Amino acid sequence: MKRSFDNSGALYTRALNTIPLASQTFSKAAMATVEGAAPLFLERGDGARVWDVDGNEYIDYVLGLLPVVLGYRDPDVDAAIRSQLERGISFSLATDLEPELAERLVEIIPCAEMVRFGKNGSDATSAAIRLARAYTGRDRIAVAGYHGWHDWYIGTTARHLGVPQTVRDLSSKFAFNDANTLEHLLKADPQGFAAVILEPMALEAPEPGFLEAVRTLCDRYEVILVFDEIVTGFRIHLGGAQAEFGVTPDLAAFGKAMGNGMPISAIVGQREIMRHMEHIFFSGTFGGEALSLAAAIATIDKLRVAQAPKVINKLGAYLKEEIGKKILERSLTEELSVGGGDWWPAVVATGQGRSDPVTVTSLLKQELIAWGVLSGATLNLSLAHANESVVGETLIAYDRALDGLAEALRRNNPASCLRGKPLRPVFQVRNASAG
Ligand SMILES: Cc1ncc(COP(=O)(O)O)c(C=O)c1O
Repeated sequence: MKRSFDNSGALYTRALNTIPLASQTFSKAAMATVEGAAPLFLERGDGARVWDVDGNEYIDYVLGLLPVVLGYRDPDVDAAIRSQLERGISFSLATDLEPELAERLVEIIPCAEMVRFGKNGSDATSAAIRLARAYTGRDRIAVAGYHGWHDWYIGTTARHLGVPQTVRDLSSKFAFNDANTLEHLLKADPQGFAAVILEPMALEAPEPGFLEAVRTLCDRYEVILVFDEIVTGFRIHLGGAQAEFGVTPDLAAFGKAMGNGMPISAIVGQREIMRHMEHIFFSGTFGGEALSLAAAIATIDKLRVAQAPKVINKLGAYLKEEIGKKILERSLTEELSVGGGDWWPAVVATGQGRSDPVTVTSLLKQELIAWGVLSGATLNLSLAHANESVVGETLIAYDRALDGLAEALRRNNPASCLRGKPLRPVFQVRNASAG
């Protein structure tokens, strides 16, 4: 289907003049899409759908990089925001919304005995690291996954420009699903590590025993175990991956889906450790901003009543199965594989077969956009996607997009079928980026 992106192109040119990258987030920037054959600016959303500045409509499987868990313009969350708006946004003292929300998190998240709020996921992960360092009197950190933009983490990636080497030296990576790599680090410096932080699940599920082994190692070396549940939280299970897999960390970071799009995050954890929050500096102007707190309370209440993680898992399992069949029918299994958990399906280029992964991913993205689906490698799901017409339209779009990909791959030079620039990935910490 022919779509115009002229208004996106014009806005992009204009924004580049005053905004480096013309975006606030790498994952929403031109480099993350097939520039020239994709929208760069959206205007509005409703349910599972968004409209770009050229008037094109899409079913959205990005969902603002995962915050939108109920759907755009959810009536209950929006009503809670409006009602709070009548009373005010930011106040000179705390409001009753703070214990109200904290108590909900304590109820649903296994490790949560106390809670502090932030705005971004990075606030919560960085608070956990500072707290762990203060509590243990140690400096080193072991990481596995993506944990945000702050120095202590981003220094471990290829995008470490601007991070001092002395800071970089304090963070070490270990491999998800390989507890030996963590043991190796801890054993070599038994008194050195303050925290182990990992995404308890991203695209790959933890193998049986892995999270338990990490827990045991942290206990043995007296290291604080932090689960980064920014993505898993409220999606895999209301109480996060720790509730799903039955392994309880000392601290955990939640964010993204917590407020259905409002900027809010939380660090939660054991009372004894969280009490040290009173001694470290984690303190910001907008920590108690009331619209986000009201939105989070309404979001969590609705997720609970609707049993949203169950619905999302069921929908994801169905989409994985159906898309998998379509890939098989078109003999694209060498180039594409369907993976991820049911709560977070992924359609990933394998790097095998007739073309390189960047070309395959770019072609698929281009074709999906042409047929009305906005998606990264992952299918980020909301309650609003669990709807017959949304699912039906999605599967038709996949049929057509995969036809387009198959057709391109029959050519000598599949990249010649790109109508814009191929994707330019920032760095890979999983097989797909979420931030
Ligand atoms: C697992 C994980 N941790 C932390 C973050 C950082 O969150 P934010 O971008 O809200 O600072 C992200 C963001 O994508 C994430 O996916």
